[in-house]
Amino acid sequence: MKTIIEPFRIKVVEPIELTTRQERESILREAHFNLFAIKAENVLIDLLTDSGTTAMSSEQWAAIMRGDESYAGARSFFRLCDSVREITGFDHILPTHQGRASERILFETIGVQGKIVPNNNHFDTTRANIEHCGGQALDLVIDEARDPQSRHPFKGNMDLDKLSALIEREGAERIPLCMVTITNNSGGGQPVSLANLRRVKELCHRHGIPFFLDACRFAENAFFIRKREKGLQDRSSRSIAREMFDLADGATISAKKDGLVNIGGLLLLRDHELIHQARNNLILTEGFPTYGGLAGRDLEALAQGLQEVLDERYLAYRIRTVEYLGEKLVEAGVPILEPPGGHAIYIDAKRFCPQIPPQHFPGQALAVGLYRIAGIRGVEIGSVMFGEGAHQSPMELVRLAMPRRVYTQSHIDYVIEAVTELYRLRSELRGLRITEAPPTLRHFSAKFEEL
Ligand code: F0G
Repeated sequence: MKTIIEPFRIKVVEPIELTTRQERESILREAHFNLFAIKAENVLIDLLTDSGTTAMSSEQWAAIMRGDESYAGARSFFRLCDSVREITGFDHILPTHQGRASERILFETIGVQGKIVPNNNHFDTTRANIEHCGGQALDLVIDEARDPQSRHPFKGNMDLDKLSALIEREGAERIPLCMVTITNNSGGGQPVSLANLRRVKELCHRHGIPFFLDACRFAENAFFIRKREKGLQDRSSRSIAREMFDLADGATISAKKDGLVNIGGLLLLRDHELIHQARNNLILTEGFPTYGGLAGRDLEALAQGLQEVLDERYLAYRIRTVEYLGEKLVEAGVPILEPPGGHAIYIDAKRFCPQIPPQHFPGQALAVGLYRIAGIRGVEIGSVMFGEGAHQSPMELVRLAMPRRVYTQSHIDYVIEAVTELYRLRSELRGLRITEAPPTLRHFSAKFEEL
């Protein structure tokens, strides 16, 4: 048998509504052509994000009923600690309401004012939190990552020469920590190799720089390592994940991805002084340390989700789903960022609609076009998201992110048909102009008009 099937069956269903083309025209106008401003009920297939959109398992729902809602010392917290410790080896766990809260607490605690934080590619909230704390966020991913057609197997890798040069130039005292994002979301959901993680850690430690993971998609990264890295085929994704975490001095995690839950985050630390300060910050801003910003039932669902995500059949199905979408789009001639990422396909809008220059947001035009013709919602990752101020976006992408365990193969086939149809009509796509935008993270609330 060749078909990799969904390793689950469906117990609860949620209807999705198809709007008419005419309805979508007025929905788009009311939303000022910003897909974040559209009501989810007006979306047929929602590929805006893989974050917090997971379908939970029957075991997770059962765990929710066991949630201990005690303010302090809840049983659910200790169950979460056991689950996280088993997978990551970290003894000290701070639960937060989501990834960006972990980031904020980390940067406020470690202190980044006037300093530089390198990463392969910072996610937008990570960059924004560093800048909000007065630091500078620097992307040092390998050059292949900026070439959408390069099929490098570990396109998320950190460029060690660039990191080494940065340390040489600025001095280790100006670098309070170094991060690596696994998988590299802003660079196309691309994995980082174990060898690369090892070398980054060695380089950092030689200079006394703490090494942190942004580990939202740690299980997908581990699976890619198992499939692609020489000599690791016989290892389990679980043991590879453990080795990745063993290299790190700490990690920020949005549990809304590979935690397989709808809300939640973690901050993992080893340094005792840092833990002490971070815990005080957590109490001030998120909640008592045994629940963070979460309910007891959320802690239970996460404890269970972290175990399920490392199931090899789940990971094989998960990665194959995204790869299948990518393969079919490439067959149809649609330019995408290759190879397919772990959680999403990134359409290359620069090549899809070359008639639209970056200042007229080709990615946004493509995303609007896809919603207009098919009711599918993706997200622009290009000059709308990263084109503010001094930052120029090297790529113009539209991300189609796959919620975990939510859509079936016929949903994916519909997406393939829609993108293929839009590609046929690509010469009709029109650029946009921003009419209103906030000072930071403008993609969430900017207003546009079509040119
Ligand atoms: N780091 C990475 C790599 C992320 O992808 C995200 C979120 C975060 C941190 C922040 O976590 O949302 O729980 O506060 N990414 C989502 C996305 C929003 O759509 O890619 P959060």
